[in-house]
Amino acid sequence: MDSGNTYWDDRALLEWQVELGADDAIQDTPVDRYALEAAKPKPKVETPKTPAPAAEPVKIDAVAEARSAAKNAADLPALAAAVQAFEHCEIKRGARSFVFSDGNPAARVMIVGEAPGRDEDRAGKPFVGVAGQLLDRMLAAIDLGRDHDDPTRSAYITNVMPWRPPSNRAPDPTEIAMMLPFLERHITLANPDFVVLMGNTPCQALLKRTGITRMRGTWTEVLGKPCLPMFHPAYLLRNTSAKREAWADLLDLNARLKS
Ligand code: URA
Repeated sequence: MDSGNTYWDDRALLEWQVELGADDAIQDTPVDRYALEAAKPKPKVETPKTPAPAAEPVKIDAVAEARSAAKNAADLPALAAAVQAFEHCEIKRGARSFVFSDGNPAARVMIVGEAPGRDEDRAGKPFVGVAGQLLDRMLAAIDLGRDHDDPTRSAYITNVMPWRPPSNRAPDPTEIAMMLPFLERHITLANPDFVVLMGNTPCQALLKRTGITRMRGTWTEVLGKPCLPMFHPAYLLRNTSAKREAWADLLDLNARLKS
């Protein structure tokens, strides 16, 4: 359609519109800018990742590990090495020494105590403090000694716990349970004729009973071996009147050794 404008009129109008801010030519058909916007590819929104659930802490069955390590020990040196390498008993952390045994492993009599005290922790040997000296005198009274080479006159000595507990406390039931497989293997490998349990802790470990005052002097069995609960020498040091019963128990043991 002829507007009647000259080229120069049209050009002046266009320049005026550009000056006013028009920057896009109007087309014959309308453009739906909303639809164009909606059709644009959406930027990827990163959804925050939910953290992976924390891995369950691996539960260690200390008793099962002790059982397996003890079972695999073919002889006493291997057993000592297996106990020493056992890392699941917290008592080990505070102890200076590993106290496995003393005396003659071929002895007919095996004595089981509770745990090393300060002197034993220093020496690395069981029953060397005052209670141990009394034990030596008790054994000597029936002509036994840990240093005898003759197995019929010697004693072999160990404890339920091979490390000194803090403040000389008694080992608790969990600690006793995890060391028990080693103690049982120890008795099996040493294969004594008689087992003597000194005080409540070895009775709790091996007989599942305590009450040494009632139990002492009554023979029972442990791992198929005759077993005699007795007062612990440390108890005898504090309760001298109980020495009479301890003496009776020693005579009984001696009679069995001779029969
Ligand atoms: N008491 C125990 O039971 N064992 C030792 O070795 C020393 C003291």
